[in-house]
Amino acid sequence: MAIKKINTAVLISGRGSNLKNLIFFSKKKNSPIIIKLVISDNSRAKGLIYAKKNFIKFKVIKNKDRKIFENKIKNELLHNKIKFICLAGFMKILSKNFVNKFKNKIINIHPSLLPKYKGLNTHEKVLKNKDKFSGCTVHFVNENLDSGKIILQKKIKVLKNDNLASLKKKVLMIEHKVYPKAIIKILK
Ligand code: GAR
Repeated sequence: MAIKKINTAVLISGRGSNLKNLIFFSKKKNSPIIIKLVISDNSRAKGLIYAKKNFIKFKVIKNKDRKIFENKIKNELLHNKIKFICLAGFMKILSKNFVNKFKNKIINIHPSLLPKYKGLNTHEKVLKNKDKFSGCTVHFVNENLDSGKIILQKKIKVLKNDNLASLKKKVLMIEHKVYPKAIIKILK
């Protein structure tokens, strides 16, 4: 019997490789999500192309006032009957008020082994500190930066000859494996 897929929105700010990967995953028979909406806070986000190509509704929402910005997003989510939200390279911190409206329904992927290296430039920090491992984390979103409960994490080895480009590439490859697994873990 076909499973009933959960109406999902993906929020992006840029390139959208995780969005592309989630769209691919959502089309699989055993995926628990269907992507109904893509929201970007950046009209030039390259990732919007994947929404267009796949005929997924997309909206660019921008506003300097966080309350107005979040209200617009909230209205769009409610209007499209969205029940689950994946942040995929979405570079804004959501307020407590917003997060509480979708409690335990918003998840994020971050390119480090949280709680290490919240925020930006994670790979630079890994290399600078000569860490032996790096990786990525999928976690629930709360009002603090990269701080909600961890759902799934995957480690990779940092090799002596790794540089910024190679590390970014390796971590992104495992992000694309881990995000769908984390979704299955919490929704199935
Ligand atoms: C990914 O590496 C994602 O983990 C990171 O931004 C990149 C987006 O790439 N997210 C964060 O740093 C959030 N704190 P993408 O646009 O190709 O998916």
